[in-house]
Amino acid sequence: TATTTPAPNRGKPTLPDAQTVTAVRHWTDWLFSFRVTRPPSLRFRSGEFVMIGLLGDNGKPLLRAYSIASPNWDDELEFYSIKVPDGPLTSKLQHIQVGDEIILRPKPVGTLVLDALLPGKRLWLLATGTGIAPFASLMRDPESYERYEQVIVMHTCRTADELAYGAELVEQLRDDPLLAEMYGEDFHKRLLYYPTTTREDSPRMGRITDNLTSGKVFADLDLPPMDPEHDRAMICGSLAFNIDVKAVLEGFGLREGANSEPREFVVEKAFVGEGI
Ligand code: FAD
Ligand code: A2P
Repeated sequence: TATTTPAPNRGKPTLPDAQTVTAVRHWTDWLFSFRVTRPPSLRFRSGEFVMIGLLGDNGKPLLRAYSIASPNWDDELEFYSIKVPDGPLTSKLQHIQVGDEIILRPKPVGTLVLDALLPGKRLWLLATGTGIAPFASLMRDPESYERYEQVIVMHTCRTADELAYGAELVEQLRDDPLLAEMYGEDFHKRLLYYPTTTREDSPRMGRITDNLTSGKVFADLDLPPMDPEHDRAMICGSLAFNIDVKAVLEGFGLREGANSEPREFVVEKAFVGEGI
């Protein structure tokens, strides 16, 4: 029935495609993660992205692509975000609090899905910066361990504090009693983690491209060099990173695949850069 006084928000969604924020965590001045309610009808494949946002000043939705960082079995959705100081969306999004609403268009898409890769022994997840987000989903999905003997996460950031979100997640998974029950006591050997920094001293350093071409990562993890028979990979970072890693993987004989034509690796941009 129509009412003349504004209805108080009784926790009911008021925006189109609204979801409610259930948790927010700030990792650095430039990075935060948050969780929102999941529309009951939303099905997605781990690694996919959706459009999310807020109402802009003009009253129209201001939406951006975001990888879903939570696995497909989770009741809620998690996102991991940059804070761009003058970014149209993230200058506002960084201030969300529990109980606030965001807009979420429930149409997941993306190339970083297991179905776009051929079966193999090892799955390499190669990311810089917020490119870890789709892999935060995939590394929590049991399907990754059903399909591959080992999942290897290489994450590179400029400084060590930017690695914290991924580091904490991997640590939790490697110590997860449920995963140990499902996959055996040595589950930690099935999820390998190779974090590096490039502009701050840390135990491991260097660009992903350099650590692959020099063979350092294979030596450090006691793995054979990548080969097209056994190794599969997903790439997610800046355009320059994606282009360079793609060339390195092709050098090992791996070919780019797609949903319609599964092959040895797939690529997706973590963001659209200036002038692109
Ligand atoms: P924008 O106007 O969109 O961006 C301003 C500038 O900031 C860009 O030109 C670029 O130089 C820089 N920038 C934007 N995003 C990033 C980033 N993530 N890392 C480093 N620099 C960036 N962003 C996330 O934070 N998390 C995600 O999971 C995520 N998933 C994405 C998936 C896809 C397929 C694509 C295409 C983009 C994704 N993005 C993600 C980027 C996101 O869509 C927005 O660009 C970002 O939220 C900034 O929005 P904005 O309106 O504040 O600034
Ligand atoms: P570097 O510090 O040597 O540039 P950015 O913030 O510029 O997107 O970079 C995030 C991380 O990705 C940094 O550690 C950076 O290393 C690395 N990186 C940037 N571009 C490339 C590239 N083309 N190939 C490999 N690593 C890259």
